[in-house]
Amino acid sequence: MKIGVLTSGGDAPGMNACLRAVVRSAIHYGHEAYGVYDGYKGLVENNIHKLERNDVGQILNRGGTILGSSRLPSFREKEVRQKAVDNLKNIGIDALVVIGGDGTYRGGMALDKMGINVVAIPGTIDNDIASTEYSIGFFTALDTAIDAIDKLRDTSFSHQRCTVVEVMGRDCGDLSIYSGIACGAEIVITKETGYDKDYVLRQVQVAENLGKRHLILVVAENITNVFELAKDIENNSNFNSRATVLGYIQRGGTPSSFDRILASKMGVRAVELLIAGESGQAVYTDSLEIGNCPIQEALDVKGEVTDLYSYLQKLN
Ligand code: F6P
Repeated sequence: MKIGVLTSGGDAPGMNACLRAVVRSAIHYGHEAYGVYDGYKGLVENNIHKLERNDVGQILNRGGTILGSSRLPSFREKEVRQKAVDNLKNIGIDALVVIGGDGTYRGGMALDKMGINVVAIPGTIDNDIASTEYSIGFFTALDTAIDAIDKLRDTSFSHQRCTVVEVMGRDCGDLSIYSGIACGAEIVITKETGYDKDYVLRQVQVAENLGKRHLILVVAENITNVFELAKDIENNSNFNSRATVLGYIQRGGTPSSFDRILASKMGVRAVELLIAGESGQAVYTDSLEIGNCPIQEALDVKGEVTDLYSYLQKLN
């Protein structure tokens, strides 16, 4: 088989680790791997090249995507997609792995309907693909946000300020709520919580009455202008207030341990699905539930050998 792979939409740390896993496991199983450059744009423009195992060396720990990425709204048009299908067929590519967010999934599904075998892998810092508990890149972006908010906390405390931080996520509040919990934010505002300015101002007053020296407010992007909110807080409390937009730093950086392993496992799974003749599938994980059991059971239960050993061979 010839298996193509592309990264599309907003880049996410761990995309390279996933690409490496796709290419190496395809070769491990005796197939050929082809990289499509700059997402769906590369499919349409025929920017598709064979990748050997060494082409994906030294990238496991690199942020961004060496394949490049893009957003291509015109991919919704059938004629544009037909070009992509023709290019794939001319090269003899039988199957495609698409790594990205919901836009990438929609593009993949459309190609599946046009006769290309496609498997989608969630790669986005937003964690907004509901079928998977976590997407590749989410935890690295979260670490970046946490690091930044911890630093803001230092100066916020020194100057007795209310710090308003805008976090990415498009329409999903996951990055905000997770970073809010991890950084001890007093208030988190997302699409899911809803936004009521008067309520927020009252909460700031409650915190002030509790004698808090400083406050951290995490606000998801696309909710409100954080600079204006900071001004409103200053005008309605005794706190000095400053706003910071974390922005694109959340998209970069070396992937965390979790993202490297998630990306590697998902990449292998995608290839195995395609080899099994599956199409139109989306890879997911659901693993980090919190549970409880009797202490005796916790002591008695036998540990299982991790399945990670089986991946090593396929990734080298
Ligand atoms: O999907 C990832 C993301 O960074 C979102 O959090 C953000 O809303 C969007 O991409 C920004 O898109 P662009 O890179 O096109 O500016």
